[in-house]
Amino acid sequence: MSTQTELQTTVEELVQKGKGILAADESNPTIAKRFKPVATEPTEENRRTWRNLLLSTAGLGDYISGVILFEETLTQKSDEGVPLPQMAQKRGIVPGIKVDKGTIPLVNAPGDLITQGLDGLVDRLKVYKEQGARFAKWREVYPIGQHNPKLLGVEANADVLARYAAICQSVGIVPIVEPEVLIDGDHSIDRCFEVIERVQQAVYNALNRYGVILEYTLLKPSMVTPGKEHTAKVAPAEVAEKTLKVLRRTVPAAVPSINFLSGGQTDEEATANLNAMNRMYPGQPWEVSFSYGRALQQAALHSWKGQRENIEAAQAALLKRARLNGAARFGKYNVEMETQ
Ligand code: 13P
Repeated sequence: MSTQTELQTTVEELVQKGKGILAADESNPTIAKRFKPVATEPTEENRRTWRNLLLSTAGLGDYISGVILFEETLTQKSDEGVPLPQMAQKRGIVPGIKVDKGTIPLVNAPGDLITQGLDGLVDRLKVYKEQGARFAKWREVYPIGQHNPKLLGVEANADVLARYAAICQSVGIVPIVEPEVLIDGDHSIDRCFEVIERVQQAVYNALNRYGVILEYTLLKPSMVTPGKEHTAKVAPAEVAEKTLKVLRRTVPAAVPSINFLSGGQTDEEATANLNAMNRMYPGQPWEVSFSYGRALQQAALHSWKGQRENIEAAQAALLKRARLNGAARFGKYNVEMETQ
């Protein structure tokens, strides 16, 4: 298969009506943080059990078209001894891989961050591909502060995302481009709008400069919301209006799909906000979808609590969130469905 055909096929499998992407790519320190409240030891076997639980959920492929995995998971096996990426693929879920190596402070831009991992990336990608990965994810992080992000931060982060995306495409891996504008802080929704607009303008400018083929990329952005500590609560209608406004200003129509991160929203908020976008503003140039981590896994994790006897309940909780977000893809979710 040519690289172009590979990219095309993967995009078609990832971008399907009524489906979104499950982010199960927490690094070892992050998954340890998630396991802590449910008193589960962050051992390799518990991580394997958890990811196996997620991927073996019957019916998950009805709502989930792709899963983002962490490096370790690519080499782990199901209870039956099947490599987890192959198990996902068999269930109609395209396996992907988080390839960035996390953030460090950006020198000469106090308060801004930059993501590491470009060195040797092409060689790592070739190995991941042999292990079954067909798409990748890279996250740049932008804290909002009175003077952040700075111009240097916006430009440097955009360049790194574009370099990553171009490298992925060169080996037939579809890049998910994730510029995460953090929800932390007490900023207003309008300040969030302004930052996302600047960030995404720079990202698409860079993607074009680096020759990235937009048709073979997905965008994973934050929604436009007030900061977590901001006092004003905002209804899904306003989040939907402002988020789509900023996306229409900045994201070319050639991009096939926008898959939001949940970024610290509650499960119900993430679903209701996505639903409002698809219900109130159908017919956007790109699919309006999800790639949630916490908003898909949280309820399931709290049902599981690291206990074998809770696996079925945990899978039911995961399937429920996947199904409700699937409904939100059509704008057909309502809050009564939470208790049905
Ligand atoms: P959340 O939905 O929990 O924000 O995770 C998505 C993700 O992949 C962040 O990189």
